[in-house]
Amino acid sequence: MTTLYDDVGGEPVFRRLVDLFYDGVANDPVLLPLYGDEDLGPGGGPRNRLALFLMQYWGGPTTYSDDRGHPRLRMRHAGWQIGPREREAWLSHMLAAVAQLDVPEEARDQLTDYLMGAAHSLMNAPGHS
Ligand code: HEM
Repeated sequence: MTTLYDDVGGEPVFRRLVDLFYDGVANDPVLLPLYGDEDLGPGGGPRNRLALFLMQYWGGPTTYSDDRGHPRLRMRHAGWQIGPREREAWLSHMLAAVAQLDVPEEARDQLTDYLMGAAHSLMNAPGHS
């Protein structure tokens, strides 16, 4: 069975996606405050957790859950108010990152659809702006 993880080129492509994304987050006035003292740079926890989660989700190794347990992303985001403004900021960096990947068009569409739905589902403060 082929997975999207394999189709796009495996771990290096997910690492690049997350690197591009966090380079954007690191300069974003809406998102930056949410990360507090986290190290947003290469090798930092947020880059590693998001890359491992996405790799696992798309059929790669299960290192994320081996390390962190069940993803339970809504629960893990409960500590922040995520409204339309935060979702749009998050998606703007993520979709810009996806657009820069050299991957098959079908995989790009699948990634885009998933990320838009996931970002929507993680809103927990719909009126927050
Ligand atoms: C909708 C806007 C979003 C905002 C504002 C947001 C913000 C955050 C923040 C502040 C953290 C804590 C830093 C960290 O532990 O890495 C975090 C963690 C995380 N986020 Fe998001 N996030 C959003 C959407 C998403 C989406 C759509 C996904 C998945 C597709 C996702 C996946 C993750 C993962 C895997 C973690 C680490 C969880 C852990 O293991 O502790 N996030 N997010």
